[in-house]
Amino acid sequence: MARILVVDDNADLLQMIRTLLEQRGGHEVILSADGEDGLAKARAHPPDLAIIDVMMPGINGYEVCRQLRQNPATAQIPIIILTARGQPVDRETALAAGADDYLAKPVTMAELLERVNQWLTQKHRVPAAGKTVAVLGLRGGVGVTTVAVNLAVTLARSFPNQVCLVDLSPSSGHGALQLGLRPDPNWAALALVPPGSTLASTIRNYLLVHPSSVHLLASPFVPIVGEGLRREMVVGVLTALQENFLNVIVDLPSVLTEGAMAVLENTTAILLVTTADPSALQTTIGTLQALKSFASRVWLILNQTTPGPLPPLDTLQRALKHPVTEVIPFDPEQVRALSRGNPLALTAPNSPLARSIAQLSTKLGILEETAGR
Ligand SMILES: Nc1ncnc2c1ncn2[C@@H]1O[C@H](COP(=O)(O)OP(=O)(O)O)[C@@H](O)[C@H]1O
Ligand SMILES: [Mg+2]
Repeated sequence: MARILVVDDNADLLQMIRTLLEQRGGHEVILSADGEDGLAKARAHPPDLAIIDVMMPGINGYEVCRQLRQNPATAQIPIIILTARGQPVDRETALAAGADDYLAKPVTMAELLERVNQWLTQKHRVPAAGKTVAVLGLRGGVGVTTVAVNLAVTLARSFPNQVCLVDLSPSSGHGALQLGLRPDPNWAALALVPPGSTLASTIRNYLLVHPSSVHLLASPFVPIVGEGLRREMVVGVLTALQENFLNVIVDLPSVLTEGAMAVLENTTAILLVTTADPSALQTTIGTLQALKSFASRVWLILNQTTPGPLPPLDTLQRALKHPVTEVIPFDPEQVRALSRGNPLALTAPNSPLARSIAQLSTKLGILEETAGR
């Protein structure tokens, strides 16, 4: 049973949601008819999740959301914005205010309950000790490397020399390219290391260091025949890197190799990247099924690699049966960032892509939760 705060000025809707969440969800529900009162109730008894209307007398739902995020007791709870306004700009405002999810009214009670339960199973954000993030997308070309590189650079700003990026692609991965580095040394050399040797003290010999202070275990320029690093080696490398770095970001190949599975088993967060086109969506829906046992650690990232409008987020989330944590907008500057080997998170921290990645790292809880260490 979870404690859920519902803030809405529509008394009928409040009662309907109460009945739904109490009787069908088995949850404890706290109702509030306006923002100030909702915040006071949240302070008195921090809820496990909040559902907040946007337009209310007094302070609006976005402001409630921002204030909940500022209070350490509620900074990490899932927040669902429920609103009569369904424009893309409203969704962006909700996410920018710190909401995790956005539902446009009218919403069916079944849909609301499903979304609440999804977020409750996902509410345990990355704990401070967990510092390994896998980035995955099996369609290819959806922005996995772009997300991994920019996330690493973003984290390195807060944790200099404490972030390592691993490019596990066996077919000339682009981590080094996006960082403007020549991939030498790279992990191909690890194939010669005898199994069981203590990598923790030698792994740094295989890493490149970028001016941002991000360390990189690069993928070999010449594609490898077969699946790349063996499973035991992947586990050894990951353990060694976890001993050497606060944050390890793994750019996974677009195949569920044994090595990739070993990474997924040893991470605290899995960022599943997709675009909104039908082929990527199909692959992502299938991937979510394949990764069912990791579902509580999967964060879905919708990346716009091409310009143009997105289908409504609600429709996408319904099709994917999983909440979308972050929508990364198309960024026209990314093409130049890649060709120059200058990640936007470093050269243009205010660009749409870099801001979105910064927001993502906050949502994952990596920045706040480890900042005091
Ligand atoms: N948000 C974005 N806006 C613009 N271009 C993007 C964005 N994300 C990725 N790209 C571009 O899309 C292409 C594929 O990205 P990449 O990160 O290499 O995908 P993957 O690793 O999934 O194969 C690259 O050319 C990259 O620069
Ligand atoms: Mg890639």
